[in-house]
Amino acid sequence: MRPIVNRLRHSSQLIDYAYRGIRNVGFANAARTMLYKPRAWLWERRFGGAGSPKHPVDAGDVVQVDEVDDGLMLWLDHAVCTVQVVTPHMLRIRVSASDAMPEYFSYATLPAAAQPTSWHWREGDGQISIHTDHATLIISKSPFGFKFKDGSGQALGAGTERLGWDQHGVVFSQKFDDGVWWYGLGERAFHLALERRTYGLTTRDPEGYAPGDDPLYINIPFLLGVQGGRAFGLLLDRMSDGELTLRPDGRVDYQVLGDELRLDIIFGPEPAQVLARYADLTGHASLPPLWVLGYHQSRWSYETEDIVREIAANFRQRRIPCDAIHFDIDYMDGFRCFTWNRKAFPDPAGLIADLHADGFKTVGMIDPGIKVDPNYDVCANGVQEDVFCKLPDGKLFHGPVWPGECYFPDFTHPRVRQWWQKWYARLVDVGFDGFWNDMNEPTIFGHATFPPAVQHDLEGRGAAHWQVHAAYGMQMVRATREALDAIRPEQRNWVFTRSAYAGTQRYASSWTGDNRSTWEDLRITPAMLMNLGLSGLAFSGSDVGGFEGAPTPELFVRWLSMAVFNPFFRTHTVKGSPWQEPWRYGPEVEAISRQYIELRYKLLPYIYTLFWQHASYGAPMMRPLFFEDPTNEAFLATDDQWLFGDHLLVAPALEENMAARDVLLPAGEWYDFWTDERLAGGQTIHRETPWRMVPLFVRAGTTLPVTEVQQFVGEKPNAALTLELFPGSGVSWLYEDDGKTLAYRSGEFRLTRFQMTETADGIILERFVQGDFTPTYTNMRIIVHGHAITTAFLDEAPMNMLNNHMQTPATSWRRLRLKIR
Ligand code: GLC
Repeated sequence: MRPIVNRLRHSSQLIDYAYRGIRNVGFANAARTMLYKPRAWLWERRFGGAGSPKHPVDAGDVVQVDEVDDGLMLWLDHAVCTVQVVTPHMLRIRVSASDAMPEYFSYATLPAAAQPTSWHWREGDGQISIHTDHATLIISKSPFGFKFKDGSGQALGAGTERLGWDQHGVVFSQKFDDGVWWYGLGERAFHLALERRTYGLTTRDPEGYAPGDDPLYINIPFLLGVQGGRAFGLLLDRMSDGELTLRPDGRVDYQVLGDELRLDIIFGPEPAQVLARYADLTGHASLPPLWVLGYHQSRWSYETEDIVREIAANFRQRRIPCDAIHFDIDYMDGFRCFTWNRKAFPDPAGLIADLHADGFKTVGMIDPGIKVDPNYDVCANGVQEDVFCKLPDGKLFHGPVWPGECYFPDFTHPRVRQWWQKWYARLVDVGFDGFWNDMNEPTIFGHATFPPAVQHDLEGRGAAHWQVHAAYGMQMVRATREALDAIRPEQRNWVFTRSAYAGTQRYASSWTGDNRSTWEDLRITPAMLMNLGLSGLAFSGSDVGGFEGAPTPELFVRWLSMAVFNPFFRTHTVKGSPWQEPWRYGPEVEAISRQYIELRYKLLPYIYTLFWQHASYGAPMMRPLFFEDPTNEAFLATDDQWLFGDHLLVAPALEENMAARDVLLPAGEWYDFWTDERLAGGQTIHRETPWRMVPLFVRAGTTLPVTEVQQFVGEKPNAALTLELFPGSGVSWLYEDDGKTLAYRSGEFRLTRFQMTETADGIILERFVQGDFTPTYTNMRIIVHGHAITTAFLDEAPMNMLNNHMQTPATSWRRLRLKIR
C-alpha cells in the first residue's frame, strides 16, 4: 500500500510542479522549453562540452625553482606553478597543466591588491619554504604539495594529498585540521557552520529551492576557516563549474573544470581581518543611497498602474513607512526589456513622478534575455551592433526565457557593456531609481543554461561559456552599474542581482532568490545571509514572508521582524500567491509590522554607519557570534542570533509557536532593548518572544544614534538625531553624509567617534568629530537608558535633564558628564 500512496503523492507533486511551471512560464514557453533540451544536446555533440579533456596525470615532482619578482616559479614534471607573495598576509598559488603559466586574469580580484612585501625563501631537505612576517608556505618537492603556517606558526593541516588532473579538469585534495570550522562559500541553504558534505560550485537557477538544495544562484568559491580560534581564508578563483567536499577529517576535496588551480590564501588571525583583506583583494562595496536601506515592497507583479497606486496609497494612509516599490517583469511589453506595457501602464513617467512626489522610489527589473523579434529595437540594434553571444559556427545563440526565444548580450565584452548604457537611459528617463537584475545565472527555462561552447569575448581574450559561467551575472550587473554611473554620474546608483561571483560586491547587492513561505526557510535565512557576508557579499536580504507559497500571519510577522536586522529589507512574492503586504493579515499583524518597520527607520543612522563600516573595512553588517570570540564552540555553531553591527544583538523567534527562547550573551554587559534591564554577559538567558518584541540587546557602553520615524527617507529633512546612551565603557561611531551623491568622496562626510567611560558616579561621553559635512538637524537629543540621571554637565556647564532626556546643540560640544544616582 505504502509504495502506491507514495507514488501517487509523488505524481501529484509532479503534476502540481508542472502546473505551477506552466502557469508561471506560459504554454508557448513550456513547449519551447521542451524543444531546447534536444537543441542543447545537438550543440554539445557538435561543438563539444565543458572542460579540456586530457589524460589523467598528477603534477609530479619539482624539477626546477626560479625566483621571480614577487615570488617563485616552480617547474614540475607535468605542470608549472607560481607562488606570489601578494601582501604579507596573502599568498597566491597557481598550478597549471601546461608548459608555461598562462596570463593572470581574474574578474574576482583587483590588481591594486598586490603590495610590495618583504619576503624570503629557503630550499633544502626536499622542501622549499617561503616566509613573510605573517605567513609561511612550505612546499614539498617530491611529490609536489604544500602546506601553510599562519603568523603564530600554527600549521593549517597536514598539506596536499593530491594535485593533478583527470579527464575534466583539476583534482585537488588538501588536508586541513579535523577541528576546523568552515564558513562562507557564497549562498548556501544550510546552517552557518558548513556541514561536511559536497557543495556545487556553479551559478544555477533552482527554480525555487528548499533548505538543503544546492547549488543556488551565486557561486563565491571562498571559504573562511577557523582553527583553534584563528581564522584564515581560501579563495579558489575559477569561474568554471566545480565541486567542493568538506570531509569529516578536515580534508577538502576540490574539482574544477579547466587546467588551472588557483588558490589565494589569506591570513587573519581575526575573522574581521580576513574579511578586510578579502575586501581589499576582491573590492569593497560602495555606499548605497540611504533610501535603499528603508523598507521595500515588491510582488511578481503589481500588474497595473492602478494597483501600484493603490499599494502606495495604502502605505501612506496606514502610516507604514516604505521607500520603494518594485516593478517586476509585467511592466514590460511582452517581457521585452526596456519597454512598457502601455495598456497596464499608459503613462509610466506620470506614475513614477506621482510616486516620487509621495516619497517613493521605484525599482525596475531587467533580465539578460532580449526577445528575438526583428521589430523590437533592442533586438534589431543588438543584432546590428553584434552584441549577442554566438555559437562557434558564428550563429547567434538563443534559448527560451520569459519573452520566448531570447538572445543574450555578451557582458564580458567592453563594447557590449557600453551598448547596454543606451537602453538604461530610457528607463532612467522615465524615472526608475534602482534596478533589479534577475535570471542572470544565466537561466534558460527547463533548468538549463547556455551550452558550454557559447563564445565570449572575455575582455578580448576569447573564452567558451564553460570557462566564464559563474561570472555572467556579475558582468551583467557590472554593465548595469557602469551604465547607471555613466547616465547619473553625480548620484549613487544601486543595482541588486540574483547571480553573483566573487567580487560582485563592487557593483551590486543581492537577494536570496526564490525561497518558500515555510518555517524551515525562515530558520536558515540568517545563516544564508551571514555566509554571504562571510563571502564578501554582505548587502543581501531574503523575500520577506517567503516567495513561493503564502505565509501565515505568524510566519509573516516573524520574518518581517527578523529582516529589520538584515542589510536588505524587502517583501516579495510569486505570481498567483495571495497579497503579501503588511496589512493583509489583520489589524494586529499590521500594527506590529508598522512598529518594526518604524524601528528600522529609527535605527537608520546606526544602520547607515554599519554600511559605511562595511564599505570601508569589509566587515559584514550581520556578524556571527564567533566574531566576539572565535574560540567559543557554542558561538562557532550559533546561527539563530547575530550581532547587527558593533552594538546590537538580535535573537529572533524562528520557529512556529515559539513562546520563549534561550539567548547566548557574549562577554561584557548588555541591556535588554525593551526593558533597559542591565545584564551580565557570558551567560545564557531565557527570553519570552511575543510577536511585538524580538529579543534585542544593546552592548553596555553604546552610544546608539537614532532618528525620528519617517514615512520615507528624507520626509523630514531636519529630523533630530537622538543619542541613546547605554551606560558602560565603549566606543561607538556615527557616519553621516548627504545620503545621495558622491560628495562624500571629496570629504563631504562627518564621522563622529563617541567614547563613553563609566566612572564611579556616572558616565562621561566624549565626542570627536571629523569631516566637513554639516547635517541638517540643529538639535540633538540625549536619552539615558537603565539608570536615573541626577545631574548633567555639557562641557562642564550644568544642563537640565528631565526623565533622563535632554537636548543639546547639534554641534560644538565635546564632553558630556552625567551623574547616576
Ligand atoms: C524569478 C525571480 C523572482 C521574480 C520572477 C519574475 O523567479 O527570482 O524574484 O519575481 O523571476 O520576474
